[in-house]
Amino acid sequence: MNVVSPATADLRYTSEVERSTAHLYDKVKKVIPEVEWPVFAPLIHRINQLKKQKNAVILGHNYMTPEIFHCVADITGDSLALARAAAKTDADIIVMAGVHFMAETSKIMNPSKKVLVPDMGAGCTLAEAITAEDVRKLKAQYPGVPVVTYVNTSADVKAESDICCTSANAAQIVEGLGTPRVIMLPDEYLALNTAKLVKCEVITWKGRCVVHEQFSPADIRGLRETNPGVVVLAHPECSPEVVAECDYTGSTAGMIDYVAKNKPPKVVLVTECSMSDNVAADFPELDFVKPCNMCPFMKKIELSNILHALETETHEVHIDPVISAKARVSVERMINGWKYGT
Ligand code: 13P
Ligand code: SF4
Repeated sequence: MNVVSPATADLRYTSEVERSTAHLYDKVKKVIPEVEWPVFAPLIHRINQLKKQKNAVILGHNYMTPEIFHCVADITGDSLALARAAAKTDADIIVMAGVHFMAETSKIMNPSKKVLVPDMGAGCTLAEAITAEDVRKLKAQYPGVPVVTYVNTSADVKAESDICCTSANAAQIVEGLGTPRVIMLPDEYLALNTAKLVKCEVITWKGRCVVHEQFSPADIRGLRETNPGVVVLAHPECSPEVVAECDYTGSTAGMIDYVAKNKPPKVVLVTECSMSDNVAADFPELDFVKPCNMCPFMKKIELSNILHALETETHEVHIDPVISAKARVSVERMINGWKYGT
């Protein structure tokens, strides 16, 4: 196919671009200054044209910046929603506006599709915290104890696991196994937070999220002091001490649902900072307090490299078919439900 390279593509802010993107600017005007729009709009216009031409779909995680989340992503959500969407899509190309493990999960769920990551450096400290060899050693140390693996892991690690979970369903997955003990990896804090909600013993690993481990109980108390009446929502990758100071804990989608249902007049999302901008764009009447901890990996994804990915059809995710098939069992068990030993 004859594609225009980013260097030669016409990325001027013409009146046609202005007209065709005006409805999108309307969605993000609360969080993107007017002066920045002429830079974003031509990229958005071109990406949306290319998606149609190539029958591509962009899956956008809740941590994407608003010009990606609201203006080019076709499906947005937490890790669970994106994994489900990847399994169902009939697009030929999936572009993951998210991190590498999310792209791998898309490929695992829909192996015949071309899955693209705009920047191969979009990793995750949790995914880097454990290897397949570590999981094999744990299984040898705890024979007969099921391994529940957070989706924030490589395909190799998923392939060694019994079942996956996300932050949206961790307690339900662990409880559903019906065993007295489980190994839950790699996020120590997610495992400790889940252990408080289930009856069985949870064996943890030592992984941490670089974004969420930075929040402290003192930060939350400080936020409450400076913002009386603020409702505090936290992601379960935060420490149990932080979670204990908060009003609600849930996945990124869980926090968005909480805001949509309860409309707290003043709210803080204790998580990656772009999410507050995305939710604030949808609820302009609410006051969002925004402490900013940025995920350096999520922030590698930009409009310019999404456009480059679509134009050049890079960087494609490849997974060994044997590993992929084994990893798929773990993800499908999570999605379809499973009891250990069946
Ligand atoms: P969610 O599944 O809640 O979207 O979380 C993914 C993630 O990477 C959080 O740091
Ligand atoms: Fe990984 Fe944390 Fe970034 Fe999520 S926020 S992708 S868990 S490093």
